[in-house]
Amino acid sequence: MLSVLVLHGPNLNLLGLREPEIYGHTTLDDVNQGLQRQADHLGVKLEILQSNHEGALVDAIHSARNRHQGLVINAGAYTHTSVALRDAIAGIAIPTVEVHLSNIHRRESFRHHSYMAAVVVGQICGFGVNSYYLGLQALVHHLQEQAGTSL
Ligand code: DQA
Repeated sequence: MLSVLVLHGPNLNLLGLREPEIYGHTTLDDVNQGLQRQADHLGVKLEILQSNHEGALVDAIHSARNRHQGLVINAGAYTHTSVALRDAIAGIAIPTVEVHLSNIHRRESFRHHSYMAAVVVGQICGFGVNSYYLGLQALVHHLQEQAGTSL
């Protein structure tokens, strides 16, 4: 069975409370439950982790090697600052989908650049919590296509 790691970066533990006009009212627990339901439906295994610490996220990405076939990541603000996370994703060479609740390209200019974007399969942003579900779906389709098992 395919196994996917979902990583939530800094401040996403505050989802539902944090700037709800931008990020909505859904909590991280709700998102994770929705992801688990979707994973059951898609027939994949999920591990989900949130951390506010850059090094912990780097460690988690490294740990995906040999344990997971794909990665969905919302790196939060580290998206725009972290060469270390970018290098970790490039280093493990596991297909990765970058997701954001908000459309980072129509917000402040410091959010327009993503260090991840050049090393991921694709980016999904602007659909609120649906960005996660669309991201997981896109990743699983990509992995199945790679394995030649789709359609
Ligand atoms: C975010 C967008 C980032 O710019 C921001 O720092 C976040 C959340 C999003 O999901 O829209 O923490 O990644």
